[in-house]
Amino acid sequence: MTDLWQNSMDHAVAAARRAGQVVQQALQDDRKVMTKSSSVDLVTQTDQRVEQLIIQSVKEKFPTHRFIGEESVAAGEPCVLTDDPTWIIDPIDGTTNFVHAFPFVAVSIGFSVNKQVEFGVVYSCLEDKMFTARRGRGAFCNGEPLQVSHQTDIKQSIIATEFGSSRDPEAVDKIFSSLRNVLCIPIHGVRGAGTAAVNMCLVASGCVEAYYETGIHVWDVAAGSLIVSEAGGVLMDTEGGEVDLMSRRIVAANNRTIAERIIREIDPFSPTRDDAPSKSSQ
Ligand code: IPD
Ligand code: CA
Ligand code: CA
Ligand code: CA
Repeated sequence: MTDLWQNSMDHAVAAARRAGQVVQQALQDDRKVMTKSSSVDLVTQTDQRVEQLIIQSVKEKFPTHRFIGEESVAAGEPCVLTDDPTWIIDPIDGTTNFVHAFPFVAVSIGFSVNKQVEFGVVYSCLEDKMFTARRGRGAFCNGEPLQVSHQTDIKQSIIATEFGSSRDPEAVDKIFSSLRNVLCIPIHGVRGAGTAAVNMCLVASGCVEAYYETGIHVWDVAAGSLIVSEAGGVLMDTEGGEVDLMSRRIVAANNRTIAERIIREIDPFSPTRDDAPSKSSQ
């Protein structure tokens, strides 16, 4: 498709950069921390403010577009993906990192049409890295093209994952049993940046071979998934087969060999929180 979505993407890049400045500024101030579904599911006024700033700026320019934003959904907006042009926003991916000033915090903006992500923007604001991808046009970091790792031997790989926010011992056991299987392949190591979006950008950059997680939401992975695939990587469901961005689980890898090996080792349903899929409609 010609330059139909280029204006929207330019707007997303500018909005993500402005949002990143707000996040960085907020790191200088006291951060008032609130909780959502549990005592470890954190949110701050900055998450809410940044999301509103992005949504307002988009509404002014593209009044017919729809939104799915993490904090709007938390406030009761529906989380439904339709065929309409939709901005999928995670205002701060890595809120726990932000609260602790752990230096990986991202603003993630995906844009989907007909339920297909057309562009993705992830701004890792404390590193000042702007990751972008447009469908069919490659992935970039600060304008430089990205390419996934060429490694096909999982034993020579680093795999990224996260521990989620469930502290239910049974759920934690499941996460650790998957992790144990992966680690004991054996692989070179396990990493986790504390943000799904940055983990996916690390796959796209070739620094880690794969990232997997269950319990994620569409706003965690919409932008990152396109950045991975445009950098030459693959996306799969944790049960195998095609990924559905609303299904709350994902394997993003440099290639199918690595993805399929991970899928063999993990429990596809190990919940990191409540595991209910979000809705897609039409
Ligand atoms: C979380 C981060 C984290 C991942 C969780 C996400 P948030 O997003 O991406 O790395 O493990 O699944 O919910 O709440 O910081 O936007
Ligand atoms: Ca997130
Ligand atoms: Ca968030
Ligand atoms: Ca959150």
